[in-house]
Amino acid sequence: MMQSVILAENVYYIGKNDNREVPFHRLILARGTTYNAYLLKTEKPTLIDTVDMEFGREFVEYLSEMIDPEELQYIVINHTEPDHSGGMAALAGRATNATIVCTEPAVKELKEMYKLHSRDFLVVHDGDTLDIGGKTLLFRETPYLHTEETMITYCVEDKILFPCDIFSTHVANNQIFADEAGFDITEDFIGYYNAIIHPHRRYVRALIDALETLDVQMIAPSHGYILRNEIQKYIGLYATMSADTVTDKKVTIVYTTIRSNTKKVANHLQRIFEENDIQASVFNADKADHAEILASIQEADAVFVGSSTKYADMIGNLEDILKAMLDMNLEGKIGAAFGSYGWSGEAIEVIQDYLNQTSMNVQSTSQVIKTTGMTHVEFPVRVRFSPKDEQLTKIEHSATFVADLLLSAV
Ligand code: FEO
Repeated sequence: MMQSVILAENVYYIGKNDNREVPFHRLILARGTTYNAYLLKTEKPTLIDTVDMEFGREFVEYLSEMIDPEELQYIVINHTEPDHSGGMAALAGRATNATIVCTEPAVKELKEMYKLHSRDFLVVHDGDTLDIGGKTLLFRETPYLHTEETMITYCVEDKILFPCDIFSTHVANNQIFADEAGFDITEDFIGYYNAIIHPHRRYVRALIDALETLDVQMIAPSHGYILRNEIQKYIGLYATMSADTVTDKKVTIVYTTIRSNTKKVANHLQRIFEENDIQASVFNADKADHAEILASIQEADAVFVGSSTKYADMIGNLEDILKAMLDMNLEGKIGAAFGSYGWSGEAIEVIQDYLNQTSMNVQSTSQVIKTTGMTHVEFPVRVRFSPKDEQLTKIEHSATFVADLLLSAV
């Protein structure tokens, strides 16, 4: 069922109620969900987000009863996942005069997803505004909440925030507003946060800071209920739930190196952990006392092991450490492999194989993608030659990911 309701002068909610048990991010949404879009019938009519691809045609038919799609001047895409941008497959050919408004990383995705290569795009950056004729839209980039290209849109005159996935709930609701739901939605709101947003909680802090500069009177997300009461309570829940809840964590980093490039990776990992108030001890396995290294590993909450690659293998004494680790009880610890290499980096994979034989929770790119959807975090941490620029950022992403695991009890 598609339905609409007016939120403010010339601002309309258009929602698709999906009351099936919806497969979603390897969850089953037992209570269904909704896909919410918003139409602003200003002098330059603007649509904010669409609905799931499966309901695109139904959406366009419904929208066409409210406005001729050819009148649309802008289509704002806050987030490219097809449960929100999916309506573009049916809409693009009807809304032929509309410029698509999105962040830079979203452009390529939308072009590829919906064959929009010949369409006009307006790339917006953090803090940009857009005059849509009688109303002003302000855009804030919210990368990794929960994918790289995401942004939120704020209508300045009506004080309505359109945050797409953020502040959503997964409930197939017939009552549009949370205060009319007939029950307290807080549990659903928190459940949604834990399932979708919490793995990205570091980025929630930037969101909370951005919201402090905005007078938000209504939150109109793209799943579930619209919030128009207790706005600060809901924003406060995100602030509380994304905060660090654990302290006194320790990381041990052990490496061997040929030309100091793997040492640089180790030192950069250490720097990132220390910036997160995590004690990080670094050992060169060819120089430090092995008993001291193993004692540090036993005390640590996370263990990073790295080596340069020479003749397709680890170098130096590192294998002695790894063999000793096989006989230790390392349950509950996080493990990760890393290294610098010039050609194939086999040593890093050999280390990963060793770590996988321990009882540690060994990080892998596959596991990260499956559990969080993050594609910018890589394990093992593989760096070619001396780490610079993008590679330093890659190391930072991986260390930060582990820091977040350590500092959050959820
Ligand atoms: Fe509701 Fe990230 O899609």
